[in-house]
Amino acid sequence: MTNEFIYRFEQAKGSGAPPLLLLHGTGGGENDLLELGAMVSPASALLSPRGRVTENGMPRFFRRLAEGVFDEDDVRHRALELADFVEEARSRHRIGRPIALGYSNGANIAAALMLLRPGTLAGAALLRAMVPLSNPPHPDLSGVPVLIASGTVDPIVPASNSARLAAMLRDAGAEVSYQALPVGHQLSRADLALVRDWLTMVDVPEPVAS
Ligand code: MLT
Repeated sequence: MTNEFIYRFEQAKGSGAPPLLLLHGTGGGENDLLELGAMVSPASALLSPRGRVTENGMPRFFRRLAEGVFDEDDVRHRALELADFVEEARSRHRIGRPIALGYSNGANIAAALMLLRPGTLAGAALLRAMVPLSNPPHPDLSGVPVLIASGTVDPIVPASNSARLAAMLRDAGAEVSYQALPVGHQLSRADLALVRDWLTMVDVPEPVAS
């Protein structure tokens, strides 16, 4: 494998459910979202890499200059590196195109991945996401299902920034569902219910092996 990510992989426990690409927040790791993934889609295969950048010992998916201020060259580089990892892991584990389930920094890299390498993901649930690039390309995301959930009292991610991301992805043709929950930055039961319900409604192709 050219892209050495530390990761966990859990086989699908049933058929018909899309694989999930689990992307943790700052300071998280490959084990963080496995439980959440299994709760929102019990039959799905789970692919869960650890971010390769560290900030004071905390794993992340790309470098930042300050909270909410991203090193955009690194965002671009790391998003493409993650896309390559997903392709390789798909053929290694014989899974279909995944839906990303990303939280915070993990949601931001998932958004960048969609913008920079459309086609890697079958869709994305982005929890507490921000606009990852100030000058994004204009990909064709026609029909790609996206859920964005922000927190109205999130001190890190202004809900207006998530709403801007929703508009950007909608403009690219994605089927965006945007929800502002009355919560902060941490994930809540409302997020879990939202993602679970959204996953039952999204229209994704059968998870055929590549
Ligand atoms: C980021 O750096 O991606 C965002 O500020 C969210 C975070 O990880 O704190």
